[in-house]
Amino acid sequence: MNTAPTEVRTDARTLARPDAPLGRSAVYAVLNTGYVGSTGPGVAATVSYAGDGGRHVIFDPGMVASPGHILDPLAELGLGADDITDVVLSHHHPDNIMNVGLFPKARIHDHKAEYLGHKWTARDAEGYELTPSLRLIHTPGHSLEDITLLAGTESGVVAFAGDLWWHAEGPAPADGPVAPDREALRAARRRVLAAADLIVPGHGAPFEPGDGVPL
Ligand SMILES: [Fe+2]
Repeated sequence: MNTAPTEVRTDARTLARPDAPLGRSAVYAVLNTGYVGSTGPGVAATVSYAGDGGRHVIFDPGMVASPGHILDPLAELGLGADDITDVVLSHHHPDNIMNVGLFPKARIHDHKAEYLGHKWTARDAEGYELTPSLRLIHTPGHSLEDITLLAGTESGVVAFAGDLWWHAEGPAPADGPVAPDREALRAARRRVLAAADLIVPGHGAPFEPGDGVPL
């Protein structure tokens, strides 16, 4: 797997999107495609991997049918649980964080802090860079603590957006059962749409930004 030091791009398209990471050397894989009650047999999170510059990152190690649904596809990438250096939690709902304990050596990231062992280091996620190709931004609306991981890859910017969208169909704010601040949710969705070439939602398969994406 290529996790060589990040390369920084400064082309016009990247610079026109202020939230986009300048680096484009990250790689990624969706380990488990999630679902909710209306689209699957239960509730499962979309669990993803991103790698860059020696960092091996899991995004949203949430509910899955069994740990193998995370660890087996990770092994296919040549990685074990102890190789994971960082875990990013999009927000604090149990269905998105249930399996965080699978990665005991990882630094855990949320909107306000990093956690490792018994160390709690406060920091704001807004603009925080794990590497120049892996950037966090604060995108509240589904909850107060939502963050998105923007990964600059060779093929474009991939946004791991947690439950800003459960899946490509939304839910739209008008019928979303979990959206304490629908205007904030719309603003966060617009921000991610402006930055990304591909969006990975919290409980579904990746989809591309476009006119049909619910706001
Ligand atoms: Fe959630």
